[in-house]
Amino acid sequence: AVQAAGSSRGIQSGPQLIGFEAVKVYDGDGVLLPAGYRHQVLLPWGQPITGRMPAFDPLRNSGADQAQQMGSHHDGMHFFPIEGHSPYEGSSEDGLLVMNHEYVEPRFMHASAVGQSLSRSAVPLKDGKRAADEVLKEINGHGVAIARIRKQANGDWQLVQDPRNRRITGLTEMQLSGPVRGSDLVKTRFSQDGTRTRGTLNNCAHGVTPWNTYLTSEENWAGYFINTGEQPREHQRYGVASRNTSRYAWERADSNADEYQRFDASSKAASATGDYRNEPNTFGWVVEIDPFNPQSTPVKRTALGRFAHEGVIFHTAVEGQPIVCYSGDDARFEYIYKYVSAQPYHKATAGGHLLDNGTLYVARFNDDGSGEWLPLVFGMGPLTPANGFNSQADVLVNTRLAADTVGATKMDRPEWGAVNPSTGEVYFTLTNNSRRTEAQIDKANPRAANDWGQIIRWREAGDQVAATRFEWDLFMLAGPQDDSDYAGAALNDGQIFNSPDGLWFDRQSRLWIQTDMSESVVNTGKWAQFGNNQMLACDPVNQVLKRFLVGPIGQEITGVCSTPDQKTLFVNVQHPGATTTPEDFAAGKLTGQWPHDGSRYPRSATLVISREDGRIVGS
Ligand code: FEO
Ligand code: CA
Ligand code: CA
Ligand code: CA
Repeated sequence: AVQAAGSSRGIQSGPQLIGFEAVKVYDGDGVLLPAGYRHQVLLPWGQPITGRMPAFDPLRNSGADQAQQMGSHHDGMHFFPIEGHSPYEGSSEDGLLVMNHEYVEPRFMHASAVGQSLSRSAVPLKDGKRAADEVLKEINGHGVAIARIRKQANGDWQLVQDPRNRRITGLTEMQLSGPVRGSDLVKTRFSQDGTRTRGTLNNCAHGVTPWNTYLTSEENWAGYFINTGEQPREHQRYGVASRNTSRYAWERADSNADEYQRFDASSKAASATGDYRNEPNTFGWVVEIDPFNPQSTPVKRTALGRFAHEGVIFHTAVEGQPIVCYSGDDARFEYIYKYVSAQPYHKATAGGHLLDNGTLYVARFNDDGSGEWLPLVFGMGPLTPANGFNSQADVLVNTRLAADTVGATKMDRPEWGAVNPSTGEVYFTLTNNSRRTEAQIDKANPRAANDWGQIIRWREAGDQVAATRFEWDLFMLAGPQDDSDYAGAALNDGQIFNSPDGLWFDRQSRLWIQTDMSESVVNTGKWAQFGNNQMLACDPVNQVLKRFLVGPIGQEITGVCSTPDQKTLFVNVQHPGATTTPEDFAAGKLTGQWPHDGSRYPRSATLVISREDGRIVGS
């Protein structure tokens, strides 16, 4: 059996970071936590947070209402201490919780869906068209929410009315910045000079800049578009496909409005409605949002590349050194990237401009444990006109092609990353890859038909964050007891998991691992032994791993952050009840109905987790 090399550095010892008893595998419709822990459900989908504060009513809320409520499918998030100047210092009882809303489950959103046999991704159609306000509601269910929350005297947290409470959606106007700004490749009907776009979509994980802003990552945006005409390479390589309808058929809205028609990116330059060919090129970016300035326009930072960005993870900012961050491209056989700013970081002047001018690299993991960061710079190496690259903007819009060209290592779906604050090592989850064949195995991706996933880690050469070489090993192979490895041993009952996705180090270097078994396999066949999706805590020094939390039926656990004092942990529950079959939905029978709050449908929501004794979570 393949083994992880996580033990090769030998057993070390240090202060014990994990003080709870592991919870068991669980497949019920609640939330399981260790003894001595409590949780509260906060900010579920549809809770009003701004504007007219329209009360949640899934069958009656309009598209406009949804833009003033929490979006759906909670994902990456961060707690920004109120009036703070650092993302990790300040109040532990009052702050802006900022989170991504990755996607929607249309059957739970519309009166027209009631009684229909609809899968979790299907949409109600009438004569092949979609009601425009249903489309608007779905667009507004996506994006980002900024909500001020405060701890009450009884220990519960509550939404606070605040002018900074805000929804950013699939329609919010955004700036394009960096090398792609103004390029012909992003000139659209909406922005003829290629400097602006509308909306952010499929926002998966996130990032937090050292200058206290939030980054949201556009992951599976390609499926929201179709192109039935000529396919430029910047569509083809990303899966903007020729198909009957896009993911939610938004282009079939019974309205000619630009904001819906743009999702058909086919060439139709001669038609009355114009040309949307470049619309998809304005997606696939990392978007910067200043949560403390409600008037600020979100900015798509194109220097970080265009792909299915899972999230953005910053290395520790060091005065006088470049800013360094990492991002995974979550698709089978895609890559891990690193960005190094051209200008050094200075606390006093740091800002988004550091993300506009720098070098994007892609990782090569050699089988001997060495690694290289390969620059994606126009004119360097093979990235020349002879190979079809004509400018840095061209390289960035076609980041995946550029990475193919320089010979990067094709990974098993890179998801989140995390930097160990005490060692500087970078950890990354590789969630699974059922399509890898025996012939495609390498040391970093060592299992064919990889249903379980692994966690890889590396250390930059000489511990220099901007290094172009690194050393890596496999930290952990996820899986059942007969096909897993951590520190030379198989995972036990209190540890087994698969499909690692969310990953986060708290400030004491406790590693939190979250899982995302697909809703199409969870609780079935060989996946049933793992129960529902879960979160584990790991102490990488003492090599302790324990299951901390199991979520309800049909969901994935994703998004984790804490208050600066680490006494409150925020964790997201995404897509509860998604395992409901079309037949059951039609019959009004739901597989899961978490959070059991009396509303008609299950709702994504945030868990607020603390200890009865008020001590640090996990310790
Ligand atoms: Fe949105 Fe890769 O998970
Ligand atoms: Ca994810
Ligand atoms: Ca998912
Ligand atoms: Ca995932």
